[in-house]
Amino acid sequence: MQLFKSKATPDAEGYFETVAGTAVPEGELTAVTINGRKLLLARYEGRVYAFSAQCPHAAANLGDGWLSRFKITCPDHEYCFDVRNGRILWPTDENYRLKLFAAKEDDGIVRVKL
Ligand code: FES
Repeated sequence: MQLFKSKATPDAEGYFETVAGTAVPEGELTAVTINGRKLLLARYEGRVYAFSAQCPHAAANLGDGWLSRFKITCPDHEYCFDVRNGRILWPTDENYRLKLFAAKEDDGIVRVKL
């Protein structure tokens, strides 16, 4: 996992420039920090998703977890979330949700809106 810090000023639409799209390969987590907020980027089927690096269960660092296709698994208690929509995948009787952020790629750059 690589760690990147972004520029602190958003564009007119509120998106912050983060990293080159090539820094977010399929199957890997890419950590970025925007104005002190730690996020993770993950690519699935060509699209980039951005979400908080803090697990919604008990605040573990999801950057130390495992990404498999669209599923992120937390390293602490192994809760699993879908990075595409934030929904919990396991355990199914829990109600936590991953905090997602809008992400897009323009001119080869990943931009995230906080
Ligand atoms: S802190 Fe992530 S599953 Fe408990």
